[in-house]
Amino acid sequence: MIRTPVCDLLDIEHPIALGGMGSASSPAMTAAVSRAGGLGAMGCHYLTPQQIRERTAAIRKETNKPFGLNFLVFDTHEDGFAAGLDLRPSVMQFAWARQDQDLKLYFDRAHAMGCKVTYMAGAVKEAVRAARAGADVIIAQGSEGGGHVGWMGSMPLIPMVVDAVSPIPVLAAGGFADGRGLAAALSLGAQGILLGTRFLASLESPLHPNFKQAIVDSDGHDTQLSEIPDIAAGVVWPGAMTRSRRNKFIERWSGQEWALRQHRAEALAKLRAARDAGDVDEGPLSMGQDAGLIRDIPPAGEIVMRIAREAEQILAQRLPALLSN
Ligand SMILES: Cc1cc2nc3c(=O)[nH]c(=O)nc-3n(C[C@H](O)[C@H](O)[C@H](O)COP(=O)(O)O)c2cc1C
Repeated sequence: MIRTPVCDLLDIEHPIALGGMGSASSPAMTAAVSRAGGLGAMGCHYLTPQQIRERTAAIRKETNKPFGLNFLVFDTHEDGFAAGLDLRPSVMQFAWARQDQDLKLYFDRAHAMGCKVTYMAGAVKEAVRAARAGADVIIAQGSEGGGHVGWMGSMPLIPMVVDAVSPIPVLAAGGFADGRGLAAALSLGAQGILLGTRFLASLESPLHPNFKQAIVDSDGHDTQLSEIPDIAAGVVWPGAMTRSRRNKFIERWSGQEWALRQHRAEALAKLRAARDAGDVDEGPLSMGQDAGLIRDIPPAGEIVMRIAREAEQILAQRLPALLSN
């Protein structure tokens, strides 16, 4: 079994975490990952304080293992944040702050409630900023990942962040979907991995079945980094674009972002309707390049176990065999 110091810090069995994924989170998926010994997380973005309380209660009904509540700092509202803190999750998982925001204010309040603090950064400077503000764990997220990502690929970013924030533990994110990824992340100096796309194609994921199938069908070459989903939603994201499936909606507006701004309300209404109807050509699907590694839709707990087992086999057998001659 692979254990790294972050397992003790976060009180988990396997160094495998679920990204808090806004409306693509669900209590069932969060609980399934935690029950299997990973760190589940629930995105609190878009939720009211009452919904945060109800969904946290639903997670706790299914497991007493640790899990995180995820907040996007640039879009965090005091009432939701206070509701999250009052629930005293094991981990407060933060990401995406504007430069004018003081991370220490958020981290100190989380620590005062007994929570561990993780912060996801897509650049070294941002990781150092969070380390200085007192984060317990830094998540280094490469641009291969799904959803909002920065400009650096995981391969150079992860060891650079490891060096820059040492001895604070780092989890690697962006492009990881199997045990080979976990073994590689450990080699780069990370203490574990955080995954989004792999868990979107799980039994407990709240995505429409058509979107889960689109991830399975993807060869990983059909994603595009763009501002298009944010322009449609009317959101200015600090320092990120979105990696999503390059479908008809994305192709229509690529290079026509100026025109999308003129037709925003209409485009957003269509986008939401397509999402609800499971229309993969016109609906939004944030997913990473690692979709090309995903072949099935198993229970989320099985994903955790598979990744742990495969990485262990690589570290215990495949890599040592390279040294034996
Ligand atoms: C649909 C979707 C929504 C996401 N929403 C959030 C979010 O609300 N907060 C967050 O910290 N990260 C979010 N992420 C990023 C993930 O936490 C994670 O960094 C990313 O998925 C890792 O790359 P991977 O998809 O290749 O595993 C999201 C990712 C996806 C795919």
